[in-house]
Amino acid sequence: MVVLGIESSCDETAAAVVGPDKVLSDVVHSQQIHADYGGVVPELAARAHVEKLGVVVRAALERASVQRPDAVVATAGPGLIGAVLTGLAWGKALALGWGVPFLGVNHLEGHLLSALLEEEPPTWPFLSLVVSGGHTTLYRCDALGSYVVLGQTVDDAAGEAFDKTARLMGLGYPGGPAIDRLAAQGDRAAVSLPRPDPGALDWSFSGLKTAVRNHVRSPERAADADVCASFQAAVVDCLLDRVVRASEQTGITSLAIAGGVAANSELRDRVSQLPWPTFIPPRARCTDNGAMIANAGRLHLLAGRLDPPDVGARPGWQVGV
Ligand code: KG4
Ligand code: ZN
Repeated sequence: MVVLGIESSCDETAAAVVGPDKVLSDVVHSQQIHADYGGVVPELAARAHVEKLGVVVRAALERASVQRPDAVVATAGPGLIGAVLTGLAWGKALALGWGVPFLGVNHLEGHLLSALLEEEPPTWPFLSLVVSGGHTTLYRCDALGSYVVLGQTVDDAAGEAFDKTARLMGLGYPGGPAIDRLAAQGDRAAVSLPRPDPGALDWSFSGLKTAVRNHVRSPERAADADVCASFQAAVVDCLLDRVVRASEQTGITSLAIAGGVAANSELRDRVSQLPWPTFIPPRARCTDNGAMIANAGRLHLLAGRLDPPDVGARPGWQVGV
């Protein structure tokens, strides 16, 4: 089954074609218009998706040499309602025109199943750490559609902490890549920062961001590279601490990471050093993309799921129990 997948939940307009065991094309347009505002402006994102969806979808079909896929899937949530609606409407219209099945896909499930696109995918059950701009959640993945939330953030998402910290340091948006780049030249031990632990397998990042704010306003402000390296080390320490605890509690020693923050160099390095099978998608598969949506949709279609043509957007749609 060859599936066209469309992603438009935030500031990436993306489309991909995925066939049996293979990504046939994967086209991502990252919107630049939000940089001036220091964050994604929902109305601008939706308008920019409308402008780019046609080009991006056509490019994905052409690169895959596919004229009419066997099914179309699109992100139905969670995400910015206006942005989600654009790709969803586009996908439903294409499916209707071609007379092929349509399915609305959960964006988070797209991230957490992206490890299955790897050449040597994990076998069930595995742990999946989804760390993005809006989510920081550790799942136990038992089977397709069967996920248990083991831990999550009680305040800011990890990506949000990167973005807010970068903003208060004047490093621009999105903050994650900027901090990652600077941290490479910094000393991880230069600034003493807290490792907040709200208990269970949860995270809390807002205090860490405040600690950085207090530090950069103090007379002892370290060099930016040192602040970035220290902040990044604290975030990664917190992330891995819960992962190791979760593994001890569940007995599962297989870990996949996903979401924009999974593109972070230190997180990737340290996850790869864990003494377990780890699944670290290439950077382009960590940030939002169409291949992960096509993949998740395809797996559900093969399992017999299908949506009616009037399926709506679900901006708050979560996965897992
Ligand atoms: O998954 P994603 O592309 O979109 C959401 O669904 O949120 O994640 C975007 C987030 C942003 O907060 C961005 O700053 C962060 O991922 N990010 C990074 C890196 N690249 C992107 N954070 C840390 N290090 C990076 N290299
Ligand atoms: Zn995402």
